[in-house]
Amino acid sequence: NELYAVVGHPINHSKSPRIHSLFAKQTGEPVEYTAIQAPLDGFANTVRQFFESGGKGLNVTVPFKEQAWELADQRTARAEKAGAANTLYQNSEGRLVADNTDGQGLVQDLTVNHGIQLKGANILVLGAGGAVRGVLGPLLAQKPASMTIANRTVAKAEALATLFAEDAGATILSACGFEAPDQPFDVIINGTSASLQGDLPPVRTNVITAGTVVYDMMYSLQTTTFNQWALDNGAVRVFDGLGMLIEQAAESFRVWRGVQPDTASVIDVLRND
Ligand code: ATR
Repeated sequence: NELYAVVGHPINHSKSPRIHSLFAKQTGEPVEYTAIQAPLDGFANTVRQFFESGGKGLNVTVPFKEQAWELADQRTARAEKAGAANTLYQNSEGRLVADNTDGQGLVQDLTVNHGIQLKGANILVLGAGGAVRGVLGPLLAQKPASMTIANRTVAKAEALATLFAEDAGATILSACGFEAPDQPFDVIINGTSASLQGDLPPVRTNVITAGTVVYDMMYSLQTTTFNQWALDNGAVRVFDGLGMLIEQAAESFRVWRGVQPDTASVIDVLRND
């Protein structure tokens, strides 16, 4: 078997080993996938050792995605723009390549799994941290009519809007605070980590109508705090990030193995774990 792993800290709750084992079983690929907890000051060593001992590919999670990006000898275009990497492998010359499959995972889940049209949509993105930066490029590539980035620290939203201006094309890209958006959106994506503290971004309720699709990049067994708020304020279609988690894994698997796993069956299995 060829060895793959996810590296993070902590790592014990990671679903990646389960997801990739299901992909391996389903596709018959000789993939063995484990979880590695790197010391907080030892990410680079952990990566080096893994590849020196014959490992084929790594997923990277919190808090090492930016370090993975810095460590790489080479980056894919989407990783370059994301400023963070969740996928590492060695090319034929043994150089460390960083990729980022998070944005593709989100877009795949929204458009294919949930049948949502992003082209021409008015999208509100909440948050301006690493998670949001990782998905803006693939979202803009869908050619929404507008994308509004709202954040607690407005300067960070403005910095992202500047960084992605060259990717916006005809999309109207803007930045603001949480309380500024004052009209309904087609799609609202929560990319803040506010729910980890049980907080809600203080967004006006009139951003939601029954037609609004609400997507929380977080995933939890119960309805997320943000999605519950959206339901309480008239949203009908709300989704959490489980599909994104499995789609980004599938895209990593495809990058490493050249084989596209079926995700629907795996989403089903994990939803019922
Ligand atoms: P991640 O990797 O999850 O993106 P991050 O880069 O630390 O982590 O970004 C966290 C995001 O959630 C930021 O947009 C942050 O807002 P600030 O940029 O103003 O810090 C947002 N966030 C975190 N806690 C929040 C809270 N309690 N309320 C609202 N927004 C919050």
